[in-house]
Amino acid sequence: MKAAAFAYARATSVVNALELLAVHGDKAKVLSGGQSLMPAMNLRLLSPEILVDIGGLAELRGIAVRGDVLIVGALTRHVDLLRSPEIAQHAPLLRDAVSHVAHPAIRNRGTIGGSLAHADPASELPACVVALDATIVARGPTGERRIAATEFFKGIYETALSPDELLVAIEVPVSDQGSTFFFQEYARRHGDYAIVGLAARAVVAASRFSDLRLGFFAVGDRPLLAAAASKLINASVNPGLLAEAATTLTNELDPPDGSAGYRGHAPTPRHCLAPALRGRFARAARTGNRSGQVSAPVSVSLLVNGEPIDAVVLPRLNLADFLRENLKLTGTHVGCEHGVCGACTVRIDGEIVRSCLMLTVQAHGASVETIEGLSDSGEIADLQTAFRERNALQCGYCTPGMLITAQDLLKHSPAPDRQEIREHLSGNYCRCTGYQAIVDAVEATARARAERPA
Ligand SMILES: Cc1cc2nc3c(=O)[nH]c(=O)nc-3n(C[C@H](O)[C@H](O)[C@H](O)COP(=O)(O)OP(=O)(O)OC[C@H]3O[C@@H](n4cnc5c(N)ncnc54)[C@H](O)[C@@H]3O)c2cc1C
Ligand code: FES
Ligand code: FES
Repeated sequence: MKAAAFAYARATSVVNALELLAVHGDKAKVLSGGQSLMPAMNLRLLSPEILVDIGGLAELRGIAVRGDVLIVGALTRHVDLLRSPEIAQHAPLLRDAVSHVAHPAIRNRGTIGGSLAHADPASELPACVVALDATIVARGPTGERRIAATEFFKGIYETALSPDELLVAIEVPVSDQGSTFFFQEYARRHGDYAIVGLAARAVVAASRFSDLRLGFFAVGDRPLLAAAASKLINASVNPGLLAEAATTLTNELDPPDGSAGYRGHAPTPRHCLAPALRGRFARAARTGNRSGQVSAPVSVSLLVNGEPIDAVVLPRLNLADFLRENLKLTGTHVGCEHGVCGACTVRIDGEIVRSCLMLTVQAHGASVETIEGLSDSGEIADLQTAFRERNALQCGYCTPGMLITAQDLLKHSPAPDRQEIREHLSGNYCRCTGYQAIVDAVEATARARAERPA
């Protein structure tokens, strides 16, 4: 399914974005990485009249330490959190958590600001900012305001932001000595949304917790900071006290009045929330109140497999369709169109992304590489041979996305073990092979490359 038509405005600055939001009000939606917004639009759960694309605003991207505060720009991507030395040193909880967020191609586009503004109760990063006692910085027509993370999340997909405000940054107190962090989630597969998870920060002094913040996610309509943690602060932690705290926690998450009593009776908390999500999205789509605004075509210039391309496209044309329909590069396949199957994976400026979740207008100025480009250059010839020799393809529908994703893994991690290969490819679905042969082919290619003379 494709998104309904919409108008598109590429913001040139934060001030410009705020002006656009002021003009269009709740008919506009901010577009950052698009990794949550585009699936919702492709599924027609959301139909904004205009997208205000802030993705190019460099002023909103980056990580800096000022005094005892770590400042993370809203457009900082998940992959940046994973790789940043500042995050590793001052807020390792964010790094630990973000490795569980989706798959590499999603992490290369998705942003922390988008994740927090989206406020999915099963998301990892909202629980982290609550556990870290962070502050969300919002900018609107009347200036800037700071919102404690604990006050920011209001419900399923609801935050304290108003439609004319932008989330511009997150401020995290830098971890002091004695701080320790814990992150754990249970998901059906690595990269899936959590069934339940915990992001925690503790400060330990003289063998006691002087502070303990337990941020649970996927347990309610927003991240939950467990009050039960207070039982363990400044106390000598022994098995009896731990048992008492665990009982308090159970009551808090699963109140005896039955308001959260679904746990244990249904497959997952997320399954139980889904009807509510659908209800809210469907309502938003119904009240979308389309006023007949025609989405004007937009000029784009980009490089595709090294060749300069100029085109005029409708804002709703996603990159996968542009490559396939306009440029006849049909090696990029389309399966789910909401970011799940990986068939449409391409490289943008050297990093893998889902082309079904990217608008062509967002690729303006970028260098796009498709399976045709990677094949013609010979870059993946050995990988393609290994796939053929080991029967790692049957119908071939998943193969272009699989090859591009496998090559991405070997670029970043030349000697992966089978577990790492499985994890990296876990965002790519194959209906035919059972995956074993694909993992064999990638492993064999890695071995052969390692043995190749430099
Ligand atoms: C297959 C798949 C699996 C995923 N798995 C996970 C997962 O396991 N865990 C997880 O947490 N996420 C997951 N995600 C979502 C992903 O992490 C998104 O990147 C993230 O939720 C949204 O970030 P974005 O930059 O893409 O935001 P967008 O999609 O651009 O925007 C999301 C929402 O936030 C609003 N918004 C964006 N930026 C701002 C801003 N600066 N100010 C105000 N409003 C703003 C938009 O209007 C929109 O309503 C998954 C996505 C896909 C497609
Ligand atoms: S078509 Fe893009 S991920 Fe399935
Ligand atoms: S080979 Fe058919 S989907 Fe993978």
